[in-house]
Amino acid sequence: MNNGLEDVIATETRLSDVDGEAGRLVIRGLSLDHLVSTSTYESVAALLLDGLTERRFGAAELGKWLGEMRSGLFAHVTVLDTELLALPPVDAMRALIAHLPDDEDFEAVLRLLAAPAVFLPAILRMQSGKEPVAPDGSLSQAADILRMLTGQLPSGEQTAALDAYLVTISDHGLNASTFASRVIASTRAGLTSSVLAAISALKGPLHGGAPGPVLDMFDAVGTSENARDWLGDALDRGERLMGFGHRIYRVRDPRADALKQALRPLVLTAQVDRQQIELAEAVEHAALTILKERKPDRPLDVNVEFYTALLLDALGFPRESFTGVFAIGRTIGWIAHAREQALEGRLIRPRSVYVGPLPEAA
Ligand code: COA
Repeated sequence: MNNGLEDVIATETRLSDVDGEAGRLVIRGLSLDHLVSTSTYESVAALLLDGLTERRFGAAELGKWLGEMRSGLFAHVTVLDTELLALPPVDAMRALIAHLPDDEDFEAVLRLLAAPAVFLPAILRMQSGKEPVAPDGSLSQAADILRMLTGQLPSGEQTAALDAYLVTISDHGLNASTFASRVIASTRAGLTSSVLAAISALKGPLHGGAPGPVLDMFDAVGTSENARDWLGDALDRGERLMGFGHRIYRVRDPRADALKQALRPLVLTAQVDRQQIELAEAVEHAALTILKERKPDRPLDVNVEFYTALLLDALGFPRESFTGVFAIGRTIGWIAHAREQALEGRLIRPRSVYVGPLPEAA
């Protein structure tokens, strides 16, 4: 038995591959570096869905349909009442998504890709006492998310940064939330159920819940000079350093570098707090040094969440919403895997080893 199913191969997939030794992510045969520099969210979504729905389409068509879908879904935010708005953003978003039909057709795919993009900005505005902003279906998904969040058209650099983020996190092998999505799809429940299960798995701090705590860590560290002492104390208390370590990667997570690169235009055009970036670099440097000293047998490097925190903060997302933004981007991976599972897979039903008492002993 492998605790945590480590190294267990649970399925075949044509969607993505995580090579933990080489630090390489491949999505549909293309490396992440290539994808981030050449693709938009819409083109990666079209790539991931290729052959998994009853329709064939390109990025432009998908973008148009998603725009229409976003506009149609806006009416759902009227369901948000004080009780739902008191929940953390990702939980309120999950509750709104649970209102959607649990279908498996192409319309359901579009609906589930568009829904988180509409619901999260509306929830965030309403939680801060503002009116939600209606979608503009003529914009790209990334530009429209930022516009719905702030009420203003984003700059080209901001749109490009969010687009790069959405591409970077679109799919990532058989991570916990994607596995959850596939388990649900294997029972032939609908796509909404798959996405809801996946969001529930994602929100934990060991998976997609880490980037908010990464910012908390920067705040607690305070200054670059304090980084080493603070991190040492945290490890002495038995805490984990958020934004470091990964189940599969034994080297640097390639998504961290893709996001660091995506931040650069914002830094160069002074659309991000330079001090924050300098502090982050000091924390990264100190953490890598101290983790090497304290855990010499376990390679622990930066993971995707570290630069996610800086990027989403720079784009104006509040830290408590980071997991929800992750969900907006990862929904395409969850849906593609759910479709692949439904089309090609069997019911997922592993076995356990019973270590409790037998009837005679009990
Ligand atoms: N900080 C400090 N120590 C860490 C660590 C971290 N971020 N990540 C792992 N370790 C240590 C563990 O304490 C353990 O040490 P030990 O053997 O002396 O007890 C060893 O490394 C192995 O940890 P393990 O829990 O078996 O690894 P895992 O594969 O189950 O964990 C993560 C992977 C991602 C859950 C883990 O690295 C982590 O908790 N990271 C912080 C949260 C985070 O950034 N999550 C986002 C992931 S993309």
